[in-house]
Amino acid sequence: MDRQAVLNLLNSITDPKSGRGLADAGLVQGLSLREGRAGFMLEVGGEDITLYAAVREAAEKALLTLPGIDKAQVVLTSAEPPVPEGAVRVRKGAKVAADKGAEVRPPVTAETPDHVRRVIAIASGKGGVGKSTVAVNLALAFQRRGLSVGLLDADVYGPSIPTMLGVDAEPVFENGKLQPIDAHGLKLMSIGFLVDEAAAMIWRGPMASSAVRQMIHDVRWAGEGDPLDILIVDLPPGTGDVQLTLIQKLTLDGAVIVSTPNEIALIDARRAASMFAKTGTPILGVVENMAYFEDASGAKIEIFGRGGAAKEASALGVPLLAEVPIDVALRQAGDTGRPLATGAAAEAFDRMAEALSQ
Ligand SMILES: Nc1ncnc2c1ncn2[C@@H]1O[C@H](COP(=O)(O)OP(=O)(O)O)[C@@H](O)[C@H]1O
Ligand SMILES: [Mg+2]
Repeated sequence: MDRQAVLNLLNSITDPKSGRGLADAGLVQGLSLREGRAGFMLEVGGEDITLYAAVREAAEKALLTLPGIDKAQVVLTSAEPPVPEGAVRVRKGAKVAADKGAEVRPPVTAETPDHVRRVIAIASGKGGVGKSTVAVNLALAFQRRGLSVGLLDADVYGPSIPTMLGVDAEPVFENGKLQPIDAHGLKLMSIGFLVDEAAAMIWRGPMASSAVRQMIHDVRWAGEGDPLDILIVDLPPGTGDVQLTLIQKLTLDGAVIVSTPNEIALIDARRAASMFAKTGTPILGVVENMAYFEDASGAKIEIFGRGGAAKEASALGVPLLAEVPIDVALRQAGDTGRPLATGAAAEAFDRMAEALSQ
């Protein structure tokens, strides 16, 4: 069968929109000609479907006039972009169905890691308020008090603890268990060691849940006769599905909320507090980070305001555990992976560890 003859024939039918022949107007898509059959797709804009119904019929009739063709099929389709599988096309007034996969799925059963005496989570509603800084320095302060301490970096959105402790290592499997990395005497495990960061960014609760399971069951935090006194967990910022799953999955003895003194951060800290209330996790206290900056003359400059976190703590009925100043050395320590052991900031963390040891 001669394709060109078929296209010429289809050009004898006029496209009502452009006034040109159908083939010339580019409306003949996927022409197939074989074994006495002819067919193609007539792709038009969604709103033009009715307008082209007659064109479709005319095209089929025309094809049937060709010698050797006894079946003709022209499929009229709308050329709008296909909707990806699972997506919902939203128009004004359209209803959007709930995405089953995105639902939080209670009940989640909480689990405790083997050979760990106490688990404390460090949380904040907001990112960048110093949660990881508090987690690292609190862990070191507990260690200065003679405790054996583990640090679990569960921040799927930005695992930064390996950088803050200056370690870049691959944990090894030994006897079927992951060995935590030794960093400044702390036992460290980071979600960043186990999963691709870009993949973790788009996690949903069920994935966070299975990562936490791994952290609980596949890591040898401590030996049988030599339990870890305390495991500090750096949670991802926010109060979404992932955070909720993490705190539901891991048996927590309590949570510490970190906030800067400004209202914007406090609003999110309040959300974090209500997330813990929802899961029955005790809030151990609030840390006011970046509380002030002391200049060379010794004057305290309250960059983010002052006392907001203290007020929040008393509203929640929990202690204010520390007021950590803005400290250049503390920031440098985080960036270079050489944590501080002395100075005003370190002392604030020592007091915090003491308060949490009562
Ligand atoms: N009290 C502080 N003084 C100076 N820099 C700080 C202080 N607290 C945190 N930082 C710095 O601010 C940045 C964000 O802190 P980080 O602990 O990573 O926050 P989060 O974990 O809440 O996102 C880091 O560069 C950190 O070194
Ligand atoms: Mg962090």
